[in-house]
Amino acid sequence: MFIFGTNTKMQHTPQISQQFLQEVIEKARDHLNHVQLFYIPPYTSLTGVSEFCQRHNIWLGAQNTHWELEGAFTGEVAAPILKASGASFVMLGHVERRQMFAETDEMINKKVLAASSTGLRVMLCVGESAFEKRAGAGNTAVKRQLELALSGYKHPEQLLILYEPVWSIGSGGEAASPDYVARAMDNIRATLKEKFAREGEGVPILYGGSVNADNCAPYALLSQCAGLGVGRTGWEAESFVKVLRTALAAR
Ligand code: PGA
Repeated sequence: MFIFGTNTKMQHTPQISQQFLQEVIEKARDHLNHVQLFYIPPYTSLTGVSEFCQRHNIWLGAQNTHWELEGAFTGEVAAPILKASGASFVMLGHVERRQMFAETDEMINKKVLAASSTGLRVMLCVGESAFEKRAGAGNTAVKRQLELALSGYKHPEQLLILYEPVWSIGSGGEAASPDYVARAMDNIRATLKEKFAREGEGVPILYGGSVNADNCAPYALLSQCAGLGVGRTGWEAESFVKVLRTALAAR
C-alpha cells in the first residue's frame, strides 16, 4: 500500500484541519483503497480530527514530542498526551527541529524511546546536508543519524523512515533526483538490516522534499520508495490530492 501524507508545519487551525481532511476524503474517494494516508497537523488540531481519522483510517501524527513522559517542562507536550489526543504516531528528527531548535541526535533518540514506550509509532526523518553531500559523506551522515536515533529502539514494526535531504526541503529547496533517492534509500535499508536483521526489511522508507505533482511520478515508481511526504504542496486539499493521484497513476 502506497503511504502518502503531509506535515502541515505551522499551518492548519483546528477548523481548517477538519475541512482539509473532509475535502481530501471526498476528492480522493476513488483512490482510498490504494493508499495509506497520513496527516501531521499542529498539536492543537489533533483532538478535533482524531475521530475522523480513525473512521477513515488516516494515520494521525504529531510533529514532535518531549522525551520525558511527564514533568515540569512548560510549553512541551509529552508522548502520552499526544496519544490521548488521538495521535497514532509522532514524527521525529525533522530538519527544521534539528536546525532551528537545536535538536541533537541524542535528544531525538530519547524522543524515539519515549514515543515507543507510549505505544506510538515513530516516523523518523533523516537526511544529509548540502555540505555533507558535497563532501561525499551523505550516506555516512544518514547512517549515523539512523544509528544514533534508533539506539536501544526495539520496535522496527512500528517504525517509518522519511528520507528528506536537507537541501531539498522548503521554498529554497531542490527536489532530489529519483536516482539519488534510490541510492540513498538503499543505504538506509542496509543500515536498517544491520540493525534489525530481517525485520529491517519491512520498515517503510518514504521520500520528502519539494515533492509536487510535476515531480512525484518517478519517486512513486521506485521499488525502494514506500511512499511520499509532502510539505507546502500538501496544505491545500486540491493540490494534495493532485499529487496523490499522479503518484498512484505512475504506480
Ligand atoms: P516541502 O517540505 O515539501 O515543503 O519541501 C517537506 C517537509 O518538510 O517534510
